[in-house]
Amino acid sequence: MALIALGVTGGIGAYKAIEVCRGLQKQGHDVVVVMTRSAARFVGPVTFEAISRRPVITSQWKRGMNADIEHVAVADAIALLLVAPCTANMIGKFANGIADDFLSSLYLATRAPVLVAPAMNSNMLAHEAVQRNLQTLTARGVRFVEPGEGYLACGWIGKGRLAEPVDIVAAAQRMLSPSQSSLAGRHVLVTAGPTYEDIDPVRYIGNRSSGRMGFALAAEARRRGARVTLVAGPTRLEAPAVDELVRVRSAAEMHAAVMGLAARADVVVMAAAVADYTPVEPAAGKMAKTEAALALRLDRTPDILAELGRLPSRAAAGRPILVGFAAETADVVAKAREKRARKGVDLMVANDVSRADAGFDVTTNAVTIIGATGERELPVQAKEQVAAAILDQIEQLVGTHAGTPLPA
Ligand code: CTP
Repeated sequence: MALIALGVTGGIGAYKAIEVCRGLQKQGHDVVVVMTRSAARFVGPVTFEAISRRPVITSQWKRGMNADIEHVAVADAIALLLVAPCTANMIGKFANGIADDFLSSLYLATRAPVLVAPAMNSNMLAHEAVQRNLQTLTARGVRFVEPGEGYLACGWIGKGRLAEPVDIVAAAQRMLSPSQSSLAGRHVLVTAGPTYEDIDPVRYIGNRSSGRMGFALAAEARRRGARVTLVAGPTRLEAPAVDELVRVRSAAEMHAAVMGLAARADVVVMAAAVADYTPVEPAAGKMAKTEAALALRLDRTPDILAELGRLPSRAAAGRPILVGFAAETADVVAKAREKRARKGVDLMVANDVSRADAGFDVTTNAVTIIGATGERELPVQAKEQVAAAILDQIEQLVGTHAGTPLPA
């Protein structure tokens, strides 16, 4: 179906790349294997040659390799560059444009999408240098298959182990044909950003939400083939390309927009930080100061998510799949569990906003995704990666309900 370049770098997980190669072939793909010099110390190129039934590229200096500038020829021919396992070293080369071997040159030369399955020791993975490189690549559109947790070859127990071959093959498959995503053709409604509650024509009550998390979710849902409507509060960030963009300012406007659109949505993700209170009546003209203290009377705003949660149940196809965010500063997961139950939603994403590297107005996030049957904790990572993980969970819910008639 497609020609895939499988890059194998020098990690102990290199042996798992054999299974990845076979998995890709089982999906009908043709695989050209590119091994770094250190990868060849872990697994013999002959093994890959026998399995891929193609010559394995191990060096750009091999005789014959430059007759048709092989790394450019391969770069043009492939539909996907998949690197599994990918070492910290190769991630660093990709991020910084270093092209000192065949694989790193291929990364620069290809216009095909790139999927990377990192594998390394936990401390290396957590290192600022590696994290920065991962962020650079994420921002460039490189996708990742998250490393797993467990026994590492170095004797540690921790995160860094190469993801399971089946998961790597599934991720590759999704990248090659987004229509295989259970979100393809589905309508996803995402809210993002803060709301502003006007006090008078020049002042408002707002919050620190930048809209980044919601924008990342909207972009990722669209990449998976969904039809995306984005309802965005006031934010300076540029909104991603979506099918429909609705700009709102206040909680009341967001409420009206979402309730109007939700009936035809399959999934609603409320990533917006909606104000819980709004001035009872904004002053028509600018309020002048006096010597006296000022008390503002605030009314409750409608809780959009809770209102959606009260719609007839999803099993009866009466309402979309609902995803909420719980921004908390203490007892984060416990409070989010309670909120999930109280608001009647399918997934609640717990977000510790007291951390400097997570939550409002930063590019990274660390969350726990809470569902009816389980929870998934995601360490701090780029919001784009968090968005992909949340959508993976949503896809599972959509998948189990494939075929249910959509709400009218
Ligand atoms: N939300 C909403 N409408 C509101 C307030 C919040 O739809 N008026 C949604 C948010 O978009 C988010 C979720 O509800 O997905 C949780 O928001 P949060 O403010 O943490 O919930 P509250 O119930 O307002 O929490 P608390 O009672 O702790 O203030």
